Amino acid sequence: MLRRSRPGALTLVVVSFVALAGCAGTDSGVTAQRSTTAGDVPSVTLPGTETTVPAGAEPSTPPSSTPPSTEPTPDTPDTTDPASPSTGPSTGDGIGDELYPALGNPGVDVQDYLVDIDYDRSVGVIDGSVTMQIEFTQDREQFTLDSLGPAVSSVAIDGDDVSFVADEPELRITPDEPIEAGDTHEVVVVFTATPDGSSSLSGLPSGWFTTPGGSYVLNEPDGTRTWLPSNDHPSDKATWTFRITVPNGVTAVANGRLVGTTPSDDVASQTWEWREDEPMPTYLMLLVTGDYEIVESSTADGLPLVSAVLRDELPTMQPFLDGIEAQIEFFEPLFGPYPLDRYGLAITDSFGGLAMETQGRSLFSRDDLRAPGGFIEELLLSHELAHQWFGNAVSPARWGDIWLNESFATYAQWMWLEHIGLTTVADETAFALENRQSGDGDATGSPAADDLFGYNSYDGGAVVLHALRLTIGDDSFFEVLQRWAADNEGTSRTTEDFIELAESVAGEQLDELFDAWLFGDPPPAGFPSVSAPALG
Ligand code: ARG
Ligand code: ZN
Repeated sequence: MLRRSRPGALTLVVVSFVALAGCAGTDSGVTAQRSTTAGDVPSVTLPGTETTVPAGAEPSTPPSSTPPSTEPTPDTPDTTDPASPSTGPSTGDGIGDELYPALGNPGVDVQDYLVDIDYDRSVGVIDGSVTMQIEFTQDREQFTLDSLGPAVSSVAIDGDDVSFVADEPELRITPDEPIEAGDTHEVVVVFTATPDGSSSLSGLPSGWFTTPGGSYVLNEPDGTRTWLPSNDHPSDKATWTFRITVPNGVTAVANGRLVGTTPSDDVASQTWEWREDEPMPTYLMLLVTGDYEIVESSTADGLPLVSAVLRDELPTMQPFLDGIEAQIEFFEPLFGPYPLDRYGLAITDSFGGLAMETQGRSLFSRDDLRAPGGFIEELLLSHELAHQWFGNAVSPARWGDIWLNESFATYAQWMWLEHIGLTTVADETAFALENRQSGDGDATGSPAADDLFGYNSYDGGAVVLHALRLTIGDDSFFEVLQRWAADNEGTSRTTEDFIELAESVAGEQLDELFDAWLFGDPPPAGFPSVSAPALG
């Protein structure tokens, strides 16, 4: 087993890694983070921004030990109007997400987005429009979108300008005629935004960032609304077209397939059009600009691989592109067929420690991909790939369900690292369980808004899956994982949905197991033994 020493100092890298790099033997960022008192938390300034973020913020809201009892229906926003903004710093008309009450918009179900923007890094302004096909799920005399920062100059419904008011974090829109439930309308918002990569409610930076050579977005969980008026909640998936106009010589890359490039009227710039046909929530958006090469190939099974690599990094990154297929081949028998229509890597010049499962093309920092076959490299690459099943094909219905993303990707990353001989699942789970005994932070199933990406969503939550596996056995466990991705593909689901599926596959009650492991803090002292009868 590989052992790594504790990083000498906390950095932002640790925060992002916190969660990703907590491996057995690694005195993970989280461990260090947890043992740091509020007084000595360092902060860092992100390259390319003036944003200073704390490197380890402790939860400010009291932990809740019981699972939330109400949730928005997957992909159909709750009818609560407005949600009571009783927690968190923002107020607004949300859809009842307990951790992020302002996110989402009652009655609004976006079917399709067209993001049509100009961006020139030397000017530093995002300028354009977003066209949304919105199916309304309620009768509305007024409706909202999430918008916290963009300056909106007009809103049109079905081609006619309507009145609106910027009531941050909402954009409040009043149609000329009341809207009826079941109607679909085209809503166009014209806006400008200045990228600032602001620190989100999660405590981590999110939104649009500039880099030495261009820009990237990292929207999870609430960064989209800081530069794009939208329905910024994971319960609403839509298809997307991106038309990104950048100066000649700059490449713009988004999710999906490249439709084409067209010269702009001003001849000094061109428009890159990308189309994502797989349903996608706002937080999974990929959008990078800079000097990128688009590298296309396919797996032996015919899955298209489309990567975007900084041109001057092409030779160094080729081994990582070559490694994609083996990881997909390893995961498919465990999780089922790769669930999306393509995969690839987007390798950007962001600060190290950042990685994100942007849909169909995961985002990495070039600084983290240095040694092919290295522990951190294999960890990050396998983690973000596994998210394509867990988080992307099926997304969380509420941010409190984040363990459905992060614990699953962490467990997957451990299986891959075991497969290539860099650790074992037994060691990783034992180490993570030991760490959880300290009762640090909120239980995996009930995270705080500002600890969404904390230890108990990642390594601390992967022990929940290990306990489930030992309880119901390998056959049922992998059937649950496969059905979770396959049956729910294209939707957003809750923790309760997962428990229900696990119980139906296992043919037994598992509420005691999940109460103890998912909502208990700390969880039980030891894993169930393989031959033990189910706890439920
Ligand atoms: N989902 C990402 C991962 O675990 C982490 C994103 C954290 N968010 C952020 N704004 N840094 O792979
Ligand atoms: Zn993750």
